[in-house]
Amino acid sequence: MTVTHQDISTTNQWQALAAHAEELKGTHLRDLFGADAERGATFTAEAVDLYVDYSKNLVTDETLGLLVDLARAAGLPERIEAMFRGEHINVTEDRAVLHTALRAPRDATLVVDGQDVVADVHEVLDRMAAFAAKVRSGEWTGHTGKRLTTIVNIGIGGSDLGPKMATIALQPYADPDITSIFVSNVDGDDMAAALKGVDPEETLFIVASKTFTTIETITNAKTARTWLLDALGDGAAVAKHFVAVSTNAEKVAEFGIDTANMFGFWDWVGGRYSYDSAVGLSLMIAVGPDNFRAMLAGFHAMDQHFRTTPLERNVPVLLGLIGVWYRNFQGTATHAVLPYNQYLSRFPAYLQQLDMESNGKSVTLDGAPVTYQTGPVVWGEPGTNGQHAFYQLIHQGTQTVPADFIGFVHPADEVPGHHDLLTANLLAQTEALAFGKTPEEVRADGVPEELVAHKTFAGNHPTTTILAPKLTPSVLGQLVALYEHKVFTQGTVWNINSFDQWGVELGKVLANRITPELTADEAPSLTHDSSTNALIERYRAARRE
Ligand code: F6P
Repeated sequence: MTVTHQDISTTNQWQALAAHAEELKGTHLRDLFGADAERGATFTAEAVDLYVDYSKNLVTDETLGLLVDLARAAGLPERIEAMFRGEHINVTEDRAVLHTALRAPRDATLVVDGQDVVADVHEVLDRMAAFAAKVRSGEWTGHTGKRLTTIVNIGIGGSDLGPKMATIALQPYADPDITSIFVSNVDGDDMAAALKGVDPEETLFIVASKTFTTIETITNAKTARTWLLDALGDGAAVAKHFVAVSTNAEKVAEFGIDTANMFGFWDWVGGRYSYDSAVGLSLMIAVGPDNFRAMLAGFHAMDQHFRTTPLERNVPVLLGLIGVWYRNFQGTATHAVLPYNQYLSRFPAYLQQLDMESNGKSVTLDGAPVTYQTGPVVWGEPGTNGQHAFYQLIHQGTQTVPADFIGFVHPADEVPGHHDLLTANLLAQTEALAFGKTPEEVRADGVPEELVAHKTFAGNHPTTTILAPKLTPSVLGQLVALYEHKVFTQGTVWNINSFDQWGVELGKVLANRITPELTADEAPSLTHDSSTNALIERYRAARRE
């Protein structure tokens, strides 16, 4: 993979956008809608089942044209192809980036580094499906012959956030007899709370770790094994109650899990891009292989859209470029994702890792410092809860927070009187954010003069509305792939590697150094800064009391 040395911010395309941003200064969304009665219909696009309205963004046709020019200058079409073909675009780890192969149909072929990766993917999917079916039917029992109905996924980061988010999202499709639990934090309270009231005879642990060296996961897995063996009193029980998901067979065997009970994936799947691989085993057991495959089909349909649709109508590309517009030409620092669906309660947390671990970078592919902003802080909560918590700042605070509102035509359960109210709130928020309420309108309501400023809404707060028919497995796959490719689009424009995460390493090294210092009877001399030394000493003293 060739690495470009170009500084994107020195290109004519970037400069043209900077000049255009100056020209647009002071333009209000009210002006844009006032000048074009069709705007709400034309500034929209569709991708598979998703209808995307980007009209309430501070963009014109010219803005979008210039952004597409920028994407071309950054080589986006070539980079998309390079990713799908399996070139080693993850240059710092010399790896292909092929999460798209995880959802390629069975009859596809993709030979990468001499190996047909699609055949490998389906071989694992078939093994997962066979195992999931056995657990679900009760054919696979625990050591004492009981059906396994509590599934505990032990993993962290990409080995937790994805399967957990999706298991919650697809709960209406799950087997009600199965309880899904996710333990991630090395905080022992997480495991202790998870195992309270759980019957060891009916519990299956899935230890999910790409590397199988992550300290949190290995610590939790050891604790779970001790808990199981204490209860069942026979080392042979591990074979029936523990399976592993990993790329590292050696470490799995070293831990004591038979590799016959291991479901593999590959170094070309990044952790945060992995829940549609074997990392989704807990999800597959909960919702069944057919629903899992329907989700993969949704992912694949969005992949096809991303690969084949012209940039001007390519939804992940448009959302990515609009994000670049705000981050680099309007000075915004954060991006909110606000799903109006309680089943998507963990979707913003999932996107935090996807986006922030991917694009939280400050050097370009060739190691030069970037001269512009890269990934924003991503955050959010489901509506309408967020409305009663942080929306105040979005409406009347001092910074612009671009936001995605995600809504659905149909709920999972038609509870009378709820869904229209929920959707009305979504629509009301985006309308209020865009158009606000002028002082004149406030006065016309009879508001006393001293309160007019307080009750005025400036508006002009940009939002994108994503409307889907229903939160089905396929739609979930489409949504996740949409954001994966949005992140890729932005990383490409910023010329950064969206597929490594060296930034998490230093903390891990220091934690390993500090751990023995906290527990030592004979306090070793502390060689940290004065703040860290003092905190260690205080903690150590308090623990001894
Ligand atoms: O936090 C760093 C990281 O490597 C993530 O990228 C990854 O998802 C997580 O740790 C867990 O890694 P593993 O699956 O190897 O345990």
